[in-house]
Amino acid sequence: TDEQCEERIIAAKAKLGNRLIILGHHYQREEVFRHADFSGDSLKLSRQAAQSGAEYIVFCGVHFMAEVADILSGPEQKAILPDLAAGCSMADMASLDKVERAWQELSLILDADNQITPVTYINSAANLKAFCGRHGGIVCTSGNARAVLEWALNQREQVLFFPDQHLGRNTGYRMGIPLEQMVVWDFDQPNGGLTAAQIHQAKLILWDGFCSVHQVFQPEHIDRFRAIYPDAKVISHPEASFEVCQKSDEVGSTEYIIKTVNASPPGTRWLIGTELNLVNRLAKIGQAEGKLVHFMSPTICMCSTMFRIDPQHLLWTLENLVAGQVVNQIKVPIEEAQPARVALEQMLAISA
Ligand code: 13P
Ligand code: SF4
Repeated sequence: TDEQCEERIIAAKAKLGNRLIILGHHYQREEVFRHADFSGDSLKLSRQAAQSGAEYIVFCGVHFMAEVADILSGPEQKAILPDLAAGCSMADMASLDKVERAWQELSLILDADNQITPVTYINSAANLKAFCGRHGGIVCTSGNARAVLEWALNQREQVLFFPDQHLGRNTGYRMGIPLEQMVVWDFDQPNGGLTAAQIHQAKLILWDGFCSVHQVFQPEHIDRFRAIYPDAKVISHPEASFEVCQKSDEVGSTEYIIKTVNASPPGTRWLIGTELNLVNRLAKIGQAEGKLVHFMSPTICMCSTMFRIDPQHLLWTLENLVAGQVVNQIKVPIEEAQPARVALEQMLAISA
């Protein structure tokens, strides 16, 4: 039963003591989230992974997060993902061969290695972080994208940003970069479907990737809500579209959304454009303080891969560890881990 599963997770955790740390992303379902020793957005959790001395880092999140934990932790530590099928569809939209092909095509038009800083959103495979590390680039999260892009544009004149075009565009626009200086690189077309002139004048070259969860939110959802509740506040994650973010009062990472909603006065009504599990949690917390929290989409949309981490997988992972068996370890090969670490540490250094 669910209760037995819960009790066994607690018992296994107790047996492992401080040899174990469980990290939980805000999008995790409640039954898993409650077992996390630390919760946070991608930035906070990557810092936590870097600081933890625990032998086992069990990551309740998605694959790229466990890779980051492995890259930033010591050689004796093991990063574990309770279900190996917990990927990220956005991360899968950029692959090393496609990014390398883009880089080669860009290099025929301009001096890419001297003119373009590659920036990868943390929602990407380790080999793309390694690509950035090798080419003077950097990683960003939704919590530090602005600081990272400012750094990147101080290094070189242009940025190739992957995989999430929305985070790139929303952040660039807030920095004062006009929309005309942001172009979308269609990775299925030669030269990204762009002319040499378009590439030369672009400050940000945005990969044609997106999050399948956040693309569900539409500007009309906000319009309809405001028509009923004119005093309500709207807050969205920067993975949502430009139009949605433009219509929102606040835009920020999951951690920022939580802080902002928590800091608002009792009685505030919020419309939130991010993953359902987090919005449900905020609604519950808000209830106690008289805050009214609404989900932006009229249809249910959850991150199905985050949802793959269930109590059964967590229990199986922990009980195996108790028995001395490491299952579902995520190990990034050293030749990728080293340059990826360079790009990640660059990020951590500038977003202190
Ligand atoms: P943050 O928690 O860093 O805002 O990221 C959201 C997300 O989509 C993680 O996959
Ligand atoms: Fe990937 Fe979107 Fe799920 Fe985050 S919410 S893990 S970006 S698919």
